[in-house]
Amino acid sequence: MGEDASWAVCVEPRNVGKTYSILNDSGILNTGVEIQQISPDLVAIPITDVEKAKGLNFSPQQLDLRFRKQLDPHNRLKKIITEYLSETEAELLLDIPNTWQKVGVMAIFPRGSFSNGWDELIMRAGEGFWAEVAEAIFVAKIGIGNHIDSGPMRQSRVQLMCGDDGWVSHKEHGVNYVFDATKVMFSQGNLNERGRMGRIAKENATKDVSRIVGSETIVDLFNGIGYYSLQFLVHGNIEHLHACEMNPDSITAFKRGLEKNGVADKCTIHQGDNQHTAPQLAGKADRVLLGLLPTSTAAWPLAVNCLKEEGGVIHVHENIEEYEEGAKQKWLEETVEKFNQLAKSIGRNWQITPQPLQLIKWYAPSVRHVVLDLHFSSTN
Ligand SMILES: C[S@@+](CC[C@H](N)C(=O)[O-])C[C@H]1O[C@@H](n2cnc3c(N)ncnc32)[C@H](O)[C@@H]1O
Repeated sequence: MGEDASWAVCVEPRNVGKTYSILNDSGILNTGVEIQQISPDLVAIPITDVEKAKGLNFSPQQLDLRFRKQLDPHNRLKKIITEYLSETEAELLLDIPNTWQKVGVMAIFPRGSFSNGWDELIMRAGEGFWAEVAEAIFVAKIGIGNHIDSGPMRQSRVQLMCGDDGWVSHKEHGVNYVFDATKVMFSQGNLNERGRMGRIAKENATKDVSRIVGSETIVDLFNGIGYYSLQFLVHGNIEHLHACEMNPDSITAFKRGLEKNGVADKCTIHQGDNQHTAPQLAGKADRVLLGLLPTSTAAWPLAVNCLKEEGGVIHVHENIEEYEEGAKQKWLEETVEKFNQLAKSIGRNWQITPQPLQLIKWYAPSVRHVVLDLHFSSTN
């Protein structure tokens, strides 16, 4: 067997979703190698830990996966749908979604998928239709996206089509995010920003020249399920993290995430509106996260008030309208000025150094999600 030999658990196609879920939850899924069909009745799911797989009652096999035909979930999806198509429904073939977001063992199709003209086919296909779709694309659960609630809690309102519930455990940048995908959103567009927070956490944990020597205290004013805070808790050297959040569904999910990542002892959750909970965190933080869109402006005074007397870092998220040339620079300058005034209003004489603006994603045509890191340092 050559260098590309991989260990895998081999199961019948109908058991792929369930097995994938078990292997993923046990942390032994080998995501570096594609899941592959090795015979009409057998699918190989690559793993990283043979002994652990045996402990889960699987019988792993060593396979030369490089030379196997790669499975194409898109074609498999098309194939099962084609089997149900009547002659008059040929146009639906063009309407089969060719993208989906994968969160843990769930695939979430874009909003509007399988809607116009699909009812009859889905009824004819019967109860098992969604399970077949799940099997075709190697997941255990299926959801269909919806308009994210425009209120401050940003509920996902994903509709569950297959699976007992919407709970998933999604590993990204070394962190396990646990959440009910039908209730809270998990934005793919913020993937790089989550990774950036993880890198900052790692860098600070090893820095010995910074004012933040290793351990820092963090306040996340819009914690949600812990997009950013879990990156710091898992990768950083954290003294303590204070997570402010008002959505009970996000808090339940975050608590499960804290347990799953083994970092619960470093975190305190402050449930409720941050306007009421954050004032008690005055003067405690080396770093404050302001991850609310379209703007976190209402919490800027809270953030400044949370920083330690000697200063720290604030990460400001905002949706900027870019209709005019220079809109980003104008927002940056105005933001620095507003933070300057806020600092002065509580008697802080800080120097504020803005870092280069991080361009996260287009939120709408001409509206961009950006993040500005502001460093506050004492001039005394
Ligand atoms: C965009 S989401 C946060 C994304 C996030 N960082 C995560 O991991 O999910 C914004 C979060 O802030 C919470 N939120 C909004 N306004 C709030 C407030 N005034 N006080 C506390 N939490 C708030 C919402 O419930 C939501 O979970």
